Amino acid sequence: MTDETVTTDESVSTESEITPEIDPDPASASDLESDQPSAATTSTDRNGTTESAGFNTTESSVGEAIIEARDINVWYDDVQALTDITMDIPEQGVTAMIGPSGCGKSTFLRCINRMNDLIDAARVDGDLSLAGKNVYDSDVDPVALRRRVGMVFQKPNPFPKSIYDNVAYGLKIQDVDGDHDEIVENALRKAALWDEVSGRLDESGLELSGGQQQRLCIARAIAPDPEVLLMDEPASALDPVATSQIEDLIDSLAEEYTVVIVTHNMQQAARISDKTAVFLTGGELVEFDDTQKIFENPDNQRVEDYITGKFG
Ligand SMILES: Nc1ncnc2c1ncn2[C@@H]1O[C@H](COP(=O)(O)OP(=O)(O)OP(=O)(O)O)[C@@H](O)[C@H]1O
Ligand SMILES: [Mg+2]
Repeated sequence: MTDETVTTDESVSTESEITPEIDPDPASASDLESDQPSAATTSTDRNGTTESAGFNTTESSVGEAIIEARDINVWYDDVQALTDITMDIPEQGVTAMIGPSGCGKSTFLRCINRMNDLIDAARVDGDLSLAGKNVYDSDVDPVALRRRVGMVFQKPNPFPKSIYDNVAYGLKIQDVDGDHDEIVENALRKAALWDEVSGRLDESGLELSGGQQQRLCIARAIAPDPEVLLMDEPASALDPVATSQIEDLIDSLAEEYTVVIVTHNMQQAARISDKTAVFLTGGELVEFDDTQKIFENPDNQRVEDYITGKFG
């Protein structure tokens, strides 16, 4: 991480403003609809993705491991939330994390960009490497790390600022070089929002619809050009049309970024991800494999029971 800039105290405090809500609505009851994977067998053509029986089959875009987790254990005070998590997340493509509420999915995402550092009760043990460097090494600056690992939450959380300033925010506080107008436009284009907001960049981000606000948050997360994009149930607060837009967007973002997404919606995991990790109660990673394998022929009986709705 030799290319990282030294962080000032000011940027430390403002960085925590970028992600003010660590887990705005962890219960996420709204998306616990019955979404068994039957729809995974319904073939649907979506932008740029060849699908077989509803599964994302863009295998060719998935690369070598960019994130390597080794024996990650996390406790909140005395309560263990994750147990011995070891997994390699491939570069580019989409890795989905599924599992029942409370099994540690959000906790694991927050291990990747060290957001758990911001929770007093949290203690993380183990190694987690990003591009070969353990992010828990003492010489790693968490703020610089979060520039490389962007995050989008369940509830869209734009700042009470203009659309432009929302996207430019991370650029300013992280002193990103370059033409900010151009970077903002590019980020909004990649987030599939430019056409809807190009004439109103000075208006407040809060005036956008929920789906637009979530795309604005995605633009804000990708503007500093991260390597990894973490998404914690990014569509669960949105209607079906906005959800479909976000799914299409994830598809196109995965050509450039490594996307790690938590979802309760198993159809969504089946549609958009290349790899799926199944966490179960007790904070265990029970199975991690190609998405099609997980949904069609999992090795583990508990995974099969979860996927087929026998519990969870
Ligand atoms: N800030 C916190 N302080 C104390 N305990 C926490 C905190 N955040 C999470 N936990 C606990 O850690 C465990 C895992 O929580 P986590 O939010 O990671 O689960 P999850 O799989 O994301 O659940 P959901 O699907 O409901 O979002 C739970 O038992 C939860 O109560
Ligand atoms: Mg969660």
